[in-house]
Amino acid sequence: MSSNFNLDDSIRKIEDFPHKGILYYDITSILTNPEAFSWCIDQMVEYYKDKKIDAVAAVESRGFIFSAPFAKAMQIPLILVRKAGKLPGVTLKKSYQLEYGKAEVEIHQSDVPQGKNVLLVDDLLATGGTMGAAVELLTMGGANVKHIFGIIGLPFLKYADKLPGIEIKTLIEYE
Ligand code: PRP
Ligand code: MG
Repeated sequence: MSSNFNLDDSIRKIEDFPHKGILYYDITSILTNPEAFSWCIDQMVEYYKDKKIDAVAAVESRGFIFSAPFAKAMQIPLILVRKAGKLPGVTLKKSYQLEYGKAEVEIHQSDVPQGKNVLLVDDLLATGGTMGAAVELLTMGGANVKHIFGIIGLPFLKYADKLPGIEIKTLIEYE
């Protein structure tokens, strides 16, 4: 499939959600469009196939959607970074700052592949708070995170500042 596919056409924009003045970029409209969804996964595989990625870690919940077909296509393990209180085994936890208040993410300690290169995937990168916490979890667990992927990037919210030394790839950015 061509690399100049217009992904923007498949991203629904909602004004004033979840707060007044915020323009929300919705990926559910990618999921209902098989051509757009396939294109995203194909782009991920094309970009990462020669980058020596040993495993993919996905951030709940929308990160899961793009990571699972990628893991299947690459034939690599898929590790779930979940919101607190969902994982039954022994976990590592990390809390992070939200616009209002705090959130916490968790990972099964035994799922982290020691010394391996893990790609972290989410649907959207904004402040980088979520990804920053996920990077810390994986690093704490003994993995290396050198690559991060997001379908959408909002660079004006400065996600790169929270993810120093990591190569970040997005399929589309909005200012
Ligand atoms: C959204 C989005 C990213 C995160 C990005 O998830 O899916 O995970 O926020 O924001 P940040 O870069 O400022 O951390 P959300 O927490 O709304 O949850 P969801 O994916 O479960 O809907
Ligand atoms: Mg999310």
